[in-house]
Amino acid sequence: MIAIIYGSTTGNTSDIAVKVQQHLGADEVDLFDVKDIGLDIIDAYDRIIFAIPTWDYGEVQEDWEEVWDQIDNFDFTDKITAFIGLGDQLGYAEWFVDAMGMLHDKVVARGASVIGHWPVEGYEFDESVALTKDKKHFIGLALDEDTQRELTDERIEQWCQIISVDLEVAA
Ligand SMILES: Cc1cc2nc3c(=O)[nH]c(=O)nc-3n(C[C@H](O)[C@H](O)[C@H](O)COP(=O)(O)O)c2cc1C
Repeated sequence: MIAIIYGSTTGNTSDIAVKVQQHLGADEVDLFDVKDIGLDIIDAYDRIIFAIPTWDYGEVQEDWEEVWDQIDNFDFTDKITAFIGLGDQLGYAEWFVDAMGMLHDKVVARGASVIGHWPVEGYEFDESVALTKDKKHFIGLALDEDTQRELTDERIEQWCQIISVDLEVAA
């Protein structure tokens, strides 16, 4: 089984998590709201998708903030991870999907392998800490329900196809 662990303040990330679960197959994916779970479930999954919006000028969403330090207690060696970040590229162009990058860096420091990099083409922003070194990709799927909602479904579909190979599911 695959876990999707998300946090969401106004519901956007929660909706996206459900859509991704449907694309990958509901019988393959367990969905967890980070505010309702003990992080111990991390130990039970070797494939984890993290979904996190950025709030308050480059900060992690409040429910992720609550568990932030606890994440360091887990060993992600031998785990395959992927990241989904929500943000607003026009309203917060200097901090676009920063929280996704912060969570990625934390989990990678604990040994995780990462799949699902996503090209920066098609977005307009100034800065993000969620970019690969060459700045040509985000380290995960960047979604903008505030200014590019119409592109979301197609992005999810394409990204799920990309990661399904490494996750060993049919999408
Ligand atoms: C007060 C406020 C601060 C925000 N700060 C950022 C930010 O720094 N960077 C960013 O990319 N998006 C930012 N956003 C946009 C949210 O990430 C976006 O609306 C997201 O879809 C919210 O997800 P949620 O409904 O799952 O909480 C902010 C939105 C609000 C209302």
